[in-house]
Amino acid sequence: MTLLLPTDWAAAWQAQVAAEHAQFDALADPQARPGADWWSSQAARFHSSARQSLQPDTFLASVLPAIQPGTRLLDVGAGTGRYAVPLARAGAVVTAVEPSDSMVHYLEQYVAEEQVQVQVVRDHWETADVPPADVVICAHVLYPIADGASFLQKLDQHTLHQCFLCLGFESPNVWLMPFWRAIYDVERLHLPGAIPALALLHQLGIDAQFTPIAPINTLHFADLEEALVDVRIRLCLQPDATRDERLRMLLRAHMQRDPDGGWRPIQPQRMVVISWTKHEQTALH
Ligand SMILES: C[S@@+](CC[C@H](N)C(=O)[O-])C[C@H]1O[C@@H](n2cnc3c(N)ncnc32)[C@H](O)[C@@H]1O
Repeated sequence: MTLLLPTDWAAAWQAQVAAEHAQFDALADPQARPGADWWSSQAARFHSSARQSLQPDTFLASVLPAIQPGTRLLDVGAGTGRYAVPLARAGAVVTAVEPSDSMVHYLEQYVAEEQVQVQVVRDHWETADVPPADVVICAHVLYPIADGASFLQKLDQHTLHQCFLCLGFESPNVWLMPFWRAIYDVERLHLPGAIPALALLHQLGIDAQFTPIAPINTLHFADLEEALVDVRIRLCLQPDATRDERLRMLLRAHMQRDPDGGWRPIQPQRMVVISWTKHEQTALH
């Protein structure tokens, strides 16, 4: 008889992230390894894709009912401001925690252009020293975080009223699996997504709601050459004429044209909002 033992989700999360990282380390070409700021070559593309996204998207639409003028909001892993900027425009007093210098560069530019107020804290969430906020949001940050339990606990500790996470069911790089198979002949391991996050929250005693939302297209490329550069970075490959031609063929097979002429993966990323509410009313301003 097989005995089903309860899973330690904190340990399972850590093990899954470690295994994914170890596989990457074993495969990656040392000459093509990303530098300390992984986003340095990606931030410009990420910013233009985030700016083009129509707001409110399905995640922002879940958060907006919690916002009134003056609501203090913490955006953890704010990136280039996809959510921080429209939330500041909606009246929230926003603090954006973001460790990447290149993402912060575009975030500050976006904030200045839109003439909104956002306090930017250039730090990792694990070490950031910021006060708690009425509303905390964290979109597409958790997947590669080794100690997911401590990260989530700190989000909870900084939430006075409501916390909202946006995550894919699968890790965001799932669309690249055929590329790993074709180039490296491996089944690429996944990072944890929304379901282990919910289980981990449950284990931490946080009673969260799980709401599937319509896919948000976070990946958008101006053309196939921009997509090729992105795929090379993600697969840790140097330019190579023969291999690049193969990658272009794979891109044509796995991406489709947007009405605006850009390109995005055919397979939309299925997404979830995980949210919870603190009931201590004293916490509200
Ligand atoms: C995929 S982007 C998402 C950005 C934004 N939330 C959005 O949805 O457009 C992930 C962001 O998380 C940031 N990040 C990564 N590790 C982090 C950490 N430990 N603490 C805070 N942010 C982190 C990255 O620098 C990056 O800007």
